[in-house]
Amino acid sequence: MQSVERVRALLRVGGPGDATFVAELARTAFSAYGEYDRVLPHWLGTRGVATVVAEDDGMPAGFAMLGMRPGLHLGRPDAELLAVAVAALARRRGIGRALVREVIVIAERWRVRGIRLHTADTNVVAQRLFAGEGFLAEASREGFYPNGQGAVAMRRPLERRRRSRS
Ligand SMILES: CC(C)(COP(=O)(O)OP(=O)(O)OC[C@H]1O[C@@H](n2cnc3c(N)ncnc32)[C@H](O)[C@@H]1OP(=O)(O)O)[C@@H](O)C(=O)NCCC(=O)NCCS
Repeated sequence: MQSVERVRALLRVGGPGDATFVAELARTAFSAYGEYDRVLPHWLGTRGVATVVAEDDGMPAGFAMLGMRPGLHLGRPDAELLAVAVAALARRRGIGRALVREVIVIAERWRVRGIRLHTADTNVVAQRLFAGEGFLAEASREGFYPNGQGAVAMRRPLERRRRSRS
């Protein structure tokens, strides 16, 4: 079984060249909720969105997207985990957790106050993954998804990093 450390070594920055992979994985992972296979590829390379791709044996096996939350903010804003998905054959090997951890590192670099996300209220697997990485359930959102499913809103606060004195 691969360790998280091994999987982390296979993470790379995603970009427009990953559009086909992201569209295909989004189709299998998210089509029940809406047309995310159309939306997510457009966000690759979009300013303010960071994409991490996990590779397994040289092939893309998962991705995560982090964006800045739109809207007005007093002080530092939150980032938003827009999507995370792992190909069915590559699941349960720590790739999803490695992607979430990498997104947390990116958000810390952005100096945001926290990371928010929504996931389907029936998606116990994802909720377990997020809870294990420090996300707390904050609210229920009825009819959140374009196809009508409800969601749970989760947030992970980030510690303010001290500036180095050197
Ligand atoms: C959610 C998802 C990204 C997890 O990816 P993964 O690579 O299989 O996850 P990991 O192997 O890193 O598992 C991390 C934790 O998630 C939870 N988890 C993952 N698969 C699970 C399962 N089948 N049953 C119960 N818990 C599970 C566990 O808490 C696990 O920790 P553990 O192994 O210590 O028990 C993957 O199942 C997926 O792509 N699902 C479809 C898309 C989706 O729902 N995305 C999230 C909403 S945006």
